[in-house]
Amino acid sequence: MVVATRLARSLSLASATRPTPAAGPFSASRLSFSTTRSPCAPTPDGDNQEGSIADVFSSLGGDAFVPLEPRFASLKQSLWHDGLIESWRSVLSALEERTAEIVERGNKVIPQVSYRDIRDGVPPALAEEIKRVGTVVVHDAVELGEAERWKRELEAYIKRNRDLAKGFPADDPQVWELYNSVQQTQARTHPGVLGTQKALLSLFHTSSPDSPVSVNTPISYYDRLRIRFPGDAIFALGEHIDGGSLERWEDPGFRSCWREILAGGPEPHERHDPWDLSPRLDAKTSLYPSSGQCSVFRMFQGWTALSNTAPGEGTLRVFPDVSLATAYLVLRPLFRPRRGREGKLGFDDWEVDVESTDFPGSVKGKGQELSDKTHPHLRLPETMTSVPRVKPGSSVWWHCDVIHSVESQHLGAEDSSVFYIPAVPLTVPNAHYLAAQRARFAAGTPAPDFPGGEGERRFEGRATVRDTHEGSGSAGRRAIGAERFVVEEGETPGGRRVVEEANRILGFS
Ligand SMILES: [Fe+2]
Repeated sequence: MVVATRLARSLSLASATRPTPAAGPFSASRLSFSTTRSPCAPTPDGDNQEGSIADVFSSLGGDAFVPLEPRFASLKQSLWHDGLIESWRSVLSALEERTAEIVERGNKVIPQVSYRDIRDGVPPALAEEIKRVGTVVVHDAVELGEAERWKRELEAYIKRNRDLAKGFPADDPQVWELYNSVQQTQARTHPGVLGTQKALLSLFHTSSPDSPVSVNTPISYYDRLRIRFPGDAIFALGEHIDGGSLERWEDPGFRSCWREILAGGPEPHERHDPWDLSPRLDAKTSLYPSSGQCSVFRMFQGWTALSNTAPGEGTLRVFPDVSLATAYLVLRPLFRPRRGREGKLGFDDWEVDVESTDFPGSVKGKGQELSDKTHPHLRLPETMTSVPRVKPGSSVWWHCDVIHSVESQHLGAEDSSVFYIPAVPLTVPNAHYLAAQRARFAAGTPAPDFPGGEGERRFEGRATVRDTHEGSGSAGRRAIGAERFVVEEGETPGGRRVVEEANRILGFS
């Protein structure tokens, strides 16, 4: 028994002791760094402590269950009104239909596009599909041969500096503590990657033109890389959403992202708009001490493949309906199974719960976890859908609210290798992070959000600002904070101010 959520405990399905770290969806033996970053903690200025993903997710770390204080019951009471019963009924009904469709269609529900089809803007029908699913696979933004070359050269870089290179597991790393290689720098500033980021960021909108964000200005967020070996069963990660947990309900700014869901009435998942940036800019996603959180405001998480990877080969899995899953997640703490009807999913099998302090899968200072026990109506064992086959140069992008996990086993014959490259817009806090990241890059040390140490400071052949991709010119240099930002045509008033302020922060004015 590993899944040790508050809901499970409240139903006496799990003990309140430390979870066994040897098996199960969040066991410490099934770690993955593939999707570990999550918005948004304060940017650390000092040198960080060593850490791992076990710091990010409660059950990975085997944390003992700590009941929440009574004020969390008060929080639920403050959210409650009778209109939410109709919302819950509506969401359960929609999930019944949608989960059946997802199971039937498998990964055909996940849109795949060629870069040339989105380079000049995402066509409306495709945009609608991506917005519904929340995940997209983009092919041919990076030429296959170039991505293969990055991997070869990266392996040579590791070999050349093997005495200094660290990773996890320590004895034979598959996730390397590398941030400043020439190959990562080239990938982050590749014109196809920047163009993809721009296209995807454009799917978001602001409900106010004064919102302080520029979606026209993607910036680089330096993350790790993974070279997962065939046969590996170490790197896996259960279903989760990055970017805090209890904060979704507790922080008024974050909670305002769900205002249509919490307003009550039928079909909240149809009214909720995951693509409105404005409320997200005020969301506090990290109210408690935590480590391993992502400081930047990140709209899509993503990786760019360096190898051929098919379903079953250690790839990403997602729940492919972002708005419906979010509506369910947000309402879930307000309901519980009726005593004696545990395991049943009908509307009548559940009742209102505003007395307990239960927030299933939410633990202070950690990411939001989900399982078949905590969120049964999602039918996660059947609906978590592996992304389609990718080849070197393909990339996968998923909305920051998408439930995701990593396949527990890599059954392929080839390594499964990726650079973690998300899509991050320019905001004022992100510009501060970029300035700090730029300084770390110059010093050859890990990016500000990541475990500290000397990193690649003494590595032979690490990247400098001269190693941005030659195909992207100024755009590539801007993305890493090495050149002055410009106001793009059609920029909003809020975006214009952000560009000006970012230039000041980065010392360009
Ligand atoms: Fe993740």
